[in-house]
Amino acid sequence: MGFLCNWCSYAGADLAGVSRIQYPTNIRIIRVMCSGRVDPTFVVDAFLHGIDGVLVLGCHLGDCHYITGNYEAEIKMSSLSKLLNIVKFSDRMQLDWVSAAEGNRFAQIVSEFTKHIQELGPSPIKENKTKTQCIDDLEAVKSVLESSRLRGLIARQRDLVTEKNVYGNQIPAEKFENLLNDAIYNEFVRHKIVIKIKEIGKSVPDIANEIGIKAKEVLEHIVVLRSRGLVDVHEINEEIPTFISIRGG
Ligand code: FES
Repeated sequence: MGFLCNWCSYAGADLAGVSRIQYPTNIRIIRVMCSGRVDPTFVVDAFLHGIDGVLVLGCHLGDCHYITGNYEAEIKMSSLSKLLNIVKFSDRMQLDWVSAAEGNRFAQIVSEFTKHIQELGPSPIKENKTKTQCIDDLEAVKSVLESSRLRGLIARQRDLVTEKNVYGNQIPAEKFENLLNDAIYNEFVRHKIVIKIKEIGKSVPDIANEIGIKAKEVLEHIVVLRSRGLVDVHEINEEIPTFISIRGG
């Protein structure tokens, strides 16, 4: 699937077509007004529907019709890529730039990306063995992306690293990157926990076992999730509490 911005990349694809430049026909194109319009959840939804690979193409940096749309796309896709990396889907998504005059470049990007995806093989969501795990992982990624915490951080990324705050301080890009990486990982694990205990109460060791992280780490996340009103004690059996997600919490 390819999300193409109206003003450059779609025109580039059009040029490739009218110039009769050959490229693989198994790409399905969705035209958007700007690459900045592509919400990262659109990409995750595509993967949840079994799409094997997603291309996001916009105008070259500095050429966006809406001035900063492609810079915003770059920031959003970078955070998405970090999340997809956790669930081993990052190889299946690519952001690139194609101008209206670059029919050849469009065809080359599509050809190379299609070849790359063919080498990776079909999405693991299509395989019975990995389907449930993939759906859980991608649902967790989507919940993180929808959460106001990460959205706020991503939306303010450019301002935070390029401008001084009210105290006259500016966050160094490297420090912000570390903060963002931590936030992305922690939020992913928390959303994964919420999904795991959506229907049945589970103990900390059980959750740790299912997610593959230490029980101590799970407990720390449970404390945060309880403080946010997303999780509560379900019942206590022989002094071992089980926890459950609170719907609408
Ligand atoms: S209009 Fe093309 S990336 Fe914004």
